[in-house]
Amino acid sequence: MKIALLGLGTVGQGVVEVIHENKESIAKRAGQSIEIKYILDLRSFEGEAISHLMTKDFDVIANDEEIAIVVEAMGGIEPAYTYAKASLLKGKSFITSNKELVAMHGAELLEIARNNKVNFLFEASVGGGIPIIRPLNQSLTADEIYEITGILNGTTNFILTKMQQEGRIFEDVLKEAQALGYAEKNPEADVEGYDACRKIAILSSLAFGEHVSFQDIPTDGITQITQEDMVYADNMGYVIKLLATCQKQDNSIFARVSPMLIAKTHPLAMVNDVFNGILVKGNVIGDVMFYGRGAGKLPTASAMVADIVDAAKHTGTNIISFWNREKVELKDKEQVKVNYFIRLKKDAECIESIIKEIFGQIEEVVSPYNEYAFITNLDTEASFTEKISQLSDLVIINKIRIDK
Ligand code: HSE
Repeated sequence: MKIALLGLGTVGQGVVEVIHENKESIAKRAGQSIEIKYILDLRSFEGEAISHLMTKDFDVIANDEEIAIVVEAMGGIEPAYTYAKASLLKGKSFITSNKELVAMHGAELLEIARNNKVNFLFEASVGGGIPIIRPLNQSLTADEIYEITGILNGTTNFILTKMQQEGRIFEDVLKEAQALGYAEKNPEADVEGYDACRKIAILSSLAFGEHVSFQDIPTDGITQITQEDMVYADNMGYVIKLLATCQKQDNSIFARVSPMLIAKTHPLAMVNDVFNGILVKGNVIGDVMFYGRGAGKLPTASAMVADIVDAAKHTGTNIISFWNREKVELKDKEQVKVNYFIRLKKDAECIESIIKEIFGQIEEVVSPYNEYAFITNLDTEASFTEKISQLSDLVIINKIRIDK
């Protein structure tokens, strides 16, 4: 079977490597050998072993009837979306690691694939090398899933782990994550939570069958998390993780991406470094946890090559995915109940009595600094916002959601 690869960056190179390394076992599993006929990239790779495969013209690929599968590792919406649509309409399966593309156009591309009896597969778009899309589509279909909570971004988990365990500085660890090929081209997508937001939008759309738009998901990143927060977390028996969650609450769906304090005994607390962990809760199976490398060249390539094998095995048949194009209205984030951990400057006179007057019952936290720290009672975001607005911004050092 002849395939074409779009994009020869970190992940694209990984795909070439895996197909070459595991040629024989892949051929056995796919029922035929898999051969890369073209690689599309705007850069030149003269003198390299793959240079004879290089093209800059997508039409050569689209118009070659021998090409059965197009594999995209370019990232970004365009031209990936145009190429995906064109490939599927030409009867070629399309495989991608591109979470932006899947979160934005997944439902439509799945529909085009279905109508053309080919496949649109995107295992590598969430959780790097962890199988999570296929289990949601195929293994957990007896269940009504009511919650997915996960650490879905390897870069930020790497940063938070190194900050917490080694006391290292945010910027230094980010540079290391970039050098290791974990971070996005623009690392803002990682550290501001946008990447995790797209991934939870994909998972919730698949789990609940309706289109969850990533633009509707409240998203906070990790840029406000400091070394002092890590010290507090450790003293309290907690860790700080960037969690992405989607939950069915009172017949509506709620989703959010946010740094959270979670107890060291929480199933996701031990997910460290570049690893991702995804906790799925179903009404029949109970809790299921997925764990593995969430970013990097080979883990991501592994998921893409598994999709290539799946597409080869399902030539002429569409693997059904449950993801309706209809957009779902998410639950109002202001009505979701939360606990916050809050750090305040101790400047104000009688800060303790002021806080108790505003917040009612609270849990005080011993501070290793000259600060007043406490945990709020469970209340809605709206009520919390109203209460915190009674304090001057100058007094607030930080506020982080806490899982109590
Ligand atoms: N930048 C992403 C991450 C890559 O760190 O998780 C994998 O999607």
